[in-house]
Amino acid sequence: MGEEARHGQMLYQQYNCTACHQFYGLGGYMGPDLTNVISNRGEAYSRAFITAGTVRMPNFGLNEEEVSALVTYLGFVDQTGTYPPENYDVLWTGDVAQEDDPR
Ligand code: HEC
Repeated sequence: MGEEARHGQMLYQQYNCTACHQFYGLGGYMGPDLTNVISNRGEAYSRAFITAGTVRMPNFGLNEEEVSALVTYLGFVDQTGTYPPENYDVLWTGDVAQEDDPR
């Protein structure tokens, strides 16, 4: 993970985005899962939500650099896999392997 993504991860924790959002289905359930929000919706779309909030999502008053860091972090998470998994095997260990998983 690069420097900017790490900064974004810190902000994600600091502003407790996980209270309302999930990665891989884990987190609060008020807002949508963000695992693949960058692939599915794009950077500009995500940036707009994070910058302005909505009726239900708070506007955190983040500056442009903070919004960019969060979008970079979401881009990093997006590269780690697909949720919900499209093609997967349940291994004898009980682990779930996605098709593009090297295991
Ligand atoms: C109080 C709950 C809450 C918190 C905290 C919150 N969000 Fe949200 N967020 C929402 C809701 C609800 C939506 C869906 C938009 C709506 O219905 O108004 C949303 C939508 C989004 C979207 C668009 C997702 C999509 O698929 O449409 C992104 C991106 C996002 N939030 C990022 C963040 C980030 C980053 C943080 C932390 C800085 C954060 N949110 C904190 C409630 C929250």
